[in-house]
Amino acid sequence: MNNASNTLLSLQGLTMVFGGLVAVNDFNLDLHDGDLVGLIGPNGAGKTTVFNMISGQYIPTKGKVIFDGQEVQRLMPNVITGLGIARTFQNIRLFGNLSVLDNIMVSFHGKLKASFIAAMIGTPGYLSTERDLREEAYSLLEAVELSDVAYEDAQSLPYGKQRRLEIARALATHPKLLLLDEPAAGMNPYETLHLMRFIQRIRKDFNVTILLIEHDMKVVMGICERVLVMDFGIQIADGTPDKIRNDPKVIEAYLGVDE
Ligand SMILES: Nc1ncnc2c1ncn2[C@@H]1O[C@H](COP(=O)(O)OP(=O)(O)O)[C@@H](O)[C@H]1O
Ligand SMILES: [Mg+2]
Repeated sequence: MNNASNTLLSLQGLTMVFGGLVAVNDFNLDLHDGDLVGLIGPNGAGKTTVFNMISGQYIPTKGKVIFDGQEVQRLMPNVITGLGIARTFQNIRLFGNLSVLDNIMVSFHGKLKASFIAAMIGTPGYLSTERDLREEAYSLLEAVELSDVAYEDAQSLPYGKQRRLEIARALATHPKLLLLDEPAAGMNPYETLHLMRFIQRIRKDFNVTILLIEHDMKVVMGICERVLVMDFGIQIADGTPDKIRNDPKVIEAYLGVDE
């Protein structure tokens, strides 16, 4: 590692065109190890599309995604996950009928798949791997304060805990970079407050860099040290929460939007 290499993620001229719509236009961002950066903007601004290009769901029309010094914009999502990028989705994507613990186990799938044949014939090697992963899954649940509901169905959890489980599933892949897409959506004020503390804690405890899309300004302004603002696919501001709050361009972008 050289001195400049604490740049974990570099987005360079990222552009995504859908038919005639330029959803993201020449987007640039450098994230450094340990950053907690917010990405905000009105609905349809292009925020989720930026995530989709980072995590390999979309191949950018133009531009580069450089992660840990490597170009990743043409790699498959599962390969990108393996390199250390994990994300959550705007709409909760859990396996509702599976237990909380098994939802974490599914995230370990890549590790288990390696010994698929062993699983078929139930070799001792496989069984111990399975047991180790169960233990690891349980410790992860302890770390995110969900171990008390480890054996409940995911769908039976209150909303705030389902969101936390989603984040735990992302953490199960041992990411260096965690992309959170509107984690506070649908939460009550108490759950939101808990989430804010939770995000700050996992950044430290799991040593992750976080890029956070969030609708709730209290969350973004309360925990991010830097905030980027998008409008119509274009980055219109980048700075501290205080600077962003008073930026006329940002105020204008949000005018007429009932938040
Ligand atoms: N797969 C797609 N096909 C066509 N248009 C899309 C697709 N994904 C997103 N868009 C469009 O791109 C724009 C940005 O969407 P999105 O990134 O979801 O915005 P945000 O997350 O900021 O609300 C919107 O106009 C949306 O309709
Ligand atoms: Mg979105």
